[in-house]
Amino acid sequence: MTKITISHLSFAYRKKDLIIKDLNLEIPAGLSLLTGPTGCGKSTLLKLIAGLYPKYAGHRDGQIVLNGLTKAMMFQNPAEQFTMATPREEIIFALENLGLNKDEYERKLDFAVKFSQIDKFLDQKIITLSGGEKQRVAWLFWSQWTLIYFY
Ligand SMILES: Nc1ncnc2c1ncn2[C@@H]1O[C@H](COP(=O)(O)OP(=O)(O)O)[C@@H](O)[C@H]1O
Ligand SMILES: [Mg+2]
Repeated sequence: MTKITISHLSFAYRKKDLIIKDLNLEIPAGLSLLTGPTGCGKSTLLKLIAGLYPKYAGHRDGQIVLNGLTKAMMFQNPAEQFTMATPREEIIFALENLGLNKDEYERKLDFAVKFSQIDKFLDQKIITLSGGEKQRVAWLFWSQWTLIYFY
């Protein structure tokens, strides 16, 4: 089953300097691996799929159809996306930004923690977490956040 359809996709950071040229690709449901030499445009393609480009840089032609999928991107170094010291503070900060009532924080925090199994290091400094633990916290934010918001 095709989940993401890319048709005639071209992209340039600077006009006329094409990084991606007339790409046609169908990405099926499930796990896919994107490989290629350094600088060939892997990160650029993922940022296009995530909708970061052309919003924040570059010029795009062609189409990316997500077939109803929501997009979320986790960076290779998950630490880049945190603003607070601990996972608990990070979650509360996000709940504040969503404009939720304070009396809802605890229930939503509990749900988020159970869902993503981060209870063991909820109050540990993020800088001291292992790579995998950081990814688990990042994963919570980038792919499960809508679920927690509406729970
Ligand atoms: N923000 C940017 N502005 C200008 N050129 C960029 C930018 N980001 C990446 N590039 C260039 O685009 C090409 C593809 O980069 P990238 O998608 O990061 O490659 P990969 O992830 O496959 O290593 C490279 O030549 C890189 O120098
Ligand atoms: Mg890259």
